[in-house]
Amino acid sequence: MSVPTLTPIPSMSEQRSTVRCASCGATLDDRTARATCPNCGGLLAVEHVAPKAKGAALRALFDERLGAASYRGSAADRSGVWRFRELVLPAARPEEIVSHPEGNTPLVAREAVASFAGLDALRLKHEGHNPSASFKDRGMTAALTQARRIGARAVACASTGNTSASLAAYAAQAGCKALVFVPRDGIALGKLAQSLAYGATTLLVRGNFDACLRLVESASRELGVYLANSINPFRIEGQKTIVLELLQQLGWDAPDWIAVPAGNLGNTAAFGKALVEAHALGLIDRIPRIAAVQAAGAAPFALGYAEGFAQRRTVIPETVATAIRIGDPASWDRGVRTMIDTNGVVLAVPDEELLDAKAVIDRSGVGCEPASAASVAGVRRLVQAGVIAPDARVVAVLTGHVLKDPGILIDYHRTQEPAPPRANRPIEIEPDLGAVERVLRS
Ligand code: F0G
Repeated sequence: MSVPTLTPIPSMSEQRSTVRCASCGATLDDRTARATCPNCGGLLAVEHVAPKAKGAALRALFDERLGAASYRGSAADRSGVWRFRELVLPAARPEEIVSHPEGNTPLVAREAVASFAGLDALRLKHEGHNPSASFKDRGMTAALTQARRIGARAVACASTGNTSASLAAYAAQAGCKALVFVPRDGIALGKLAQSLAYGATTLLVRGNFDACLRLVESASRELGVYLANSINPFRIEGQKTIVLELLQQLGWDAPDWIAVPAGNLGNTAAFGKALVEAHALGLIDRIPRIAAVQAAGAAPFALGYAEGFAQRRTVIPETVATAIRIGDPASWDRGVRTMIDTNGVVLAVPDEELLDAKAVIDRSGVGCEPASAASVAGVRRLVQAGVIAPDARVVAVLTGHVLKDPGILIDYHRTQEPAPPRANRPIEIEPDLGAVERVLRS
């Protein structure tokens, strides 16, 4: 069967990438304004011309860009996304790149968290250190760069809060109108505040994330607004750099496992794609296994995994981790691909375990938002089940900052009755020294 070429691919520069539909194989030019296949509606994937340098030479190129010159360079030079531009969007011209900069997030180790997880050592890749305080900025710098390349005047997304915060920030920088669709109930306070502050037109939809996504997809189709959800294949290209950067931080010595919270499955998809490409280019010599961790009340992908992905599952989602309160993940097929390519596992953790893990991460001084703690809670379960060995090299990705969801924190520490095991109750006192003394003695 011959596959249609929807837009002829110009043989301009060897830098051009191809956008290919994963379902029907149709190809599009890399300046496409489409977020899904115009032929069949399938999910698109970006394929780059392989960089000339491979293996050690490519590692050296990426490492070189961490030097002093790049520290003083343009935002794109300093970005932890555009450092890997050959694998993100090689055709983007410097003046097209919309970069804060972002990325360059820390890889930290805290003994208390490792011991909670049952591991000798555990690294935490903290994506909450991005400019809008979640990993979404890595995808958004690529999506807004693409929006600029195609001359989009308005961009839109559905969101549980982080994508909208990030889109609002990057659209503001790009001078582009932003329209965000968020569930009226169940968006964390910090995220809603960001969207308003950065100036996005913010629609509080009387429905959950899945309803928001359906709505924004038809709005973008009918009204010609550029769709910036992780369905958009350029988002995936940017988010791959979470993995590339953590591999670089480990001296390109791949860990055994990478654990990631999973909702709409954009990140799960990006991680698998990054690892397969890094392996093919000789950046790493083996592919780590991915553990995708969902909240038990919003775990359609874990259900699907348990059935060998015999069918696509949906649920009515409910979890305290509002970021991943998603019942019908858009990147399902890409997520399945990641599980196959990385010999991955999918699991679900109950809210209480997730909040316990969060309390340990917070108490270690690192801190993260509730959904982020799913990665550590998931690793703990896999160690207990004997799937991950206690001496395995594991990286758990923390996807968002502790201040994203102050409501949950205040409830956990101050309000909840009975007090959860790790609650740090604030103590109300009269304004006198005796009261302080009594607290110190008790
Ligand atoms: N962690 C956080 C903090 C998130 O905000 C999200 C997704 C995820 C994990 C899951 O990532 O969807 O790629 O599987 N947040 C999206 C949003 C849905 O709208 O901000 P995923």
